[in-house]
Amino acid sequence: MKPLGLPLIFLLAVGVLGVDRNNFKTCDQSGFCKRLRPFKPEKSQYTLNLDTVIVHGNVLSAEVTTANTEAEKKVPLWKYSLTLSALVDGTFRIQVDEADPIYPRYRTQLALDGEPKADGLQLVSKEGGKVTLTNTQGHKVLITAEPLKFEFLDQNGDVAVVINENSQLLIEPLRLKREKNDEDEENAENAVEVEEEGTWGENFKSHHDSKPRGNEAVSLDVSFPDADQIYGIPEHTDKFALRTTTSGEPYRLYNLDVFEYELDSRMAIYGAVPVLYAHGSKRTVGVFWHNSAETWVDVVNYADGTVVSSLVNLVTGGHKRRVDARFISESGIVDVFVMLGNKPADVFRQYTKLTGVTPLPPKFSLAYHQSRWNYVDEADVRGVDENFDVHDIPADVIWLDIEYTDRKKYFTWDSEKFRHPAEMVANLTAKGRRLVVIIDPHIKREAGYFLHEDATEQGLYVKDKDGNIYEGWCWPGSSSYLDFFNPAASKYYSERYRFENFPGTSKDVHIWNDMNEPSVFNGPEITMPKDCRHYKPPQDGQDGLASYWEHRHIHNEYGLWQIRATNEGMLERADHKYRPFILTRSTFAGTQRYAAVWTGDNAAEWGFLQASVPMCLSLAAAGVSFCGSDVGGFFKYPEPELMTRWYQAGAYQAFFRAHSHIETKRREPWLYEPSTTALLRDAVRRRYALLDFWYTLFYEHTLDGTPVTRPYFQEYPNEEETYTIDDQYLLGDKLLVRPVLEAGAKSVKVYLPGRDTNTLWYDVDSYQMHKANGYFNQEVNIAKIPVYQRGGSVVPRRERVRRSSTLMANDPFTLVVALDANNTAQGSLYIDDGETYEYKNNKYIYAKISYEPKQMTYTLVNPSAQFSSRAWIERIVIAGIRAAPRTARLHHGGRSTALQMTLHRGNDVLVIRKPGAPVSEDWSIQFAE
Ligand code: NOJ
Repeated sequence: MKPLGLPLIFLLAVGVLGVDRNNFKTCDQSGFCKRLRPFKPEKSQYTLNLDTVIVHGNVLSAEVTTANTEAEKKVPLWKYSLTLSALVDGTFRIQVDEADPIYPRYRTQLALDGEPKADGLQLVSKEGGKVTLTNTQGHKVLITAEPLKFEFLDQNGDVAVVINENSQLLIEPLRLKREKNDEDEENAENAVEVEEEGTWGENFKSHHDSKPRGNEAVSLDVSFPDADQIYGIPEHTDKFALRTTTSGEPYRLYNLDVFEYELDSRMAIYGAVPVLYAHGSKRTVGVFWHNSAETWVDVVNYADGTVVSSLVNLVTGGHKRRVDARFISESGIVDVFVMLGNKPADVFRQYTKLTGVTPLPPKFSLAYHQSRWNYVDEADVRGVDENFDVHDIPADVIWLDIEYTDRKKYFTWDSEKFRHPAEMVANLTAKGRRLVVIIDPHIKREAGYFLHEDATEQGLYVKDKDGNIYEGWCWPGSSSYLDFFNPAASKYYSERYRFENFPGTSKDVHIWNDMNEPSVFNGPEITMPKDCRHYKPPQDGQDGLASYWEHRHIHNEYGLWQIRATNEGMLERADHKYRPFILTRSTFAGTQRYAAVWTGDNAAEWGFLQASVPMCLSLAAAGVSFCGSDVGGFFKYPEPELMTRWYQAGAYQAFFRAHSHIETKRREPWLYEPSTTALLRDAVRRRYALLDFWYTLFYEHTLDGTPVTRPYFQEYPNEEETYTIDDQYLLGDKLLVRPVLEAGAKSVKVYLPGRDTNTLWYDVDSYQMHKANGYFNQEVNIAKIPVYQRGGSVVPRRERVRRSSTLMANDPFTLVVALDANNTAQGSLYIDDGETYEYKNNKYIYAKISYEPKQMTYTLVNPSAQFSSRAWIERIVIAGIRAAPRTARLHHGGRSTALQMTLHRGNDVLVIRKPGAPVSEDWSIQFAE
């Protein structure tokens, strides 16, 4: 094969050594992408057979056939079955499968959080070659029979989403391989079907993919009229707003372990979530491409300078606002959800209705995590733990990477270095801290290792193309991989987490599932060969190819199956009492139901710090709010300034963990100069001060499914300047974070949204008020983290410094009230025991806090709460006060008490000292002039 890429010597000369692109396919090297990408027929080759249309319940079903008229047709005459279903909350689903495939095509199994709920669907008309349908919310669907096209209309009757506008619907029918004979050779020219090269096998580097089912790709195009930008399809290192791909590679979705992945790239990395959102001032809509095979996505934004203008005019009639996208997947069926929004928060919620929300995390997991590959032994762990106390830095979790095991045998301990794991854990829990240990999906092939022996005997491993146990290479050397698709394998794996099966662990030991793309060092593209075999439940009459799935069908959901088994095991080990914490590297639609995600092996470079913001914004929009990056960078060593800025940024990202490569210099916060340590300490403490705010946000996410970490346009959907902003973001709708991401910064450009609604923003350090008016320059020194609280919000804080979040449970709160232009503000506070499921039995406090010029109220949303906390309100800060009240009285439990107040700053910050109000009961404060 022709070598690709530039010679090493050149790369060295220009200093761009990093990812080895030769290890990963381009679209041209990926058979189906190369085959399908140029497929742009003038009109769709698919036709809806109107006579077959039936509407029953919420589902329209009909037959679709390929046209048989055009001489140059690419698609053979074939029959397909179409269903279109109306689902609750403004969502529709289209599925197209072969009507009579020679064996079933794969349907992605774990992404959905159960069967989506049905809405009503009514057939409005069937005439003039069109079918018109409506759901109960007044959205309409127009299906044109020939050429086949689906138009989705919003509640105003405007076209919001079009499917197959560009005629790129394609489903390659499954065929049987014909053994060639001499006659075929002779008649090759006249053969009915000339099979393209690669149909029954492809090569990449030294790897051969046997493709026993031949070509089975699917593709579909989606158009978004009126859209300015589209977002989604993580995980890439590109911008949050997706870019036109016409002159380069498509975005690739294929979970891969990419060593030294590069920035600003559409290359595939660890995660693949095939959801897209289109946004413009008219509406926000989305599509979820429910497919777990390798997928490429092309994007054309008509507002983009790179799109030929004549094409723009032709297609848009002169309107520039429109974005087209197209999914191409190697296998599966066409299964797409159309989410009609029509506001950003609606469409984010609609997606989590389908794939689930992040359940309430145990509180410690939102605090600070200290990791390294590796803390080498128990003494090292103890030392790290103690140093946090010595240096007065709070920390909740210490992590152990692969070296804690007995030579990479998971569920074992290195018996020399970790002789007393239970004691080590007890030492941590005494301070309210936890341990996280790594468990990877590859299993060391070593005689005598119980896991390997059980998996071999019980047939729990993934098989190779010939049906023998697949052997790959990973950390332990020769390894095999559990086939979580086999219920017996998942069950067996879950049981390994039982305390008696994993001695030394307890409810306070949580799990890191890494390398689960899966990573296979000697596999094609560092992963599992696509022709490996996965379990499929046996069914009568199904043998041969019908009796198993190939890895190609399921690849992107492999990691999801692993974390599901881990989650199940962690629930069962403690009788479903405690909330598990799991971190995963591989990500797919639905991952959020089980795990937090981090952005993998970054480097201690400013570019990676910068990339962490759009990467996590994109994941959050795709349901994965619990996201972070290796603070400090995994490879290389962060100099003090970069380390400081990374801690400051990490303190305001959901998953806050420092981690580093085994060969890098140690960099725990106290190993820097005292002045830097002080800055790192300050960043971590800021996180702890806001921990209850984070916890409340995650609780509210379980209620409404919208991201915790939000792009500006979610809250300010009409403010066009915000559509491409991805270096700053919102936490809930209350805090605005613009981390300093640039070396040597003396000032940063902060965008304050909300101009049209007279929004005010208060600097959280000084309470200085800014009127929203787009960008302004914020001066920064090395200690400054630009964070602003929205006028009209109340944010709970805890100011006392402890060693861990657990030890803060009864500490008092400060409520920061930032007033809007009408002198009002609202907020909320969620409190529970932090680790169990008792909150599901009403053992929690959820209070709404409201401030109006004459009174402030704290009201429990669940008045019959079975949970009480000794915590109380020790201070209320009211920023932006215009006319300070003369008196304030607390009303609580039938008593009224006069409160002490002081005015600060330019007489616009009022502080109520020691109101002593409880958090477990209702109260109010009355103000008088
Ligand atoms: C790869 C992970 O991305 C990294 O965080 C970890 O330290 C190594 N595997 C070793 O387990």
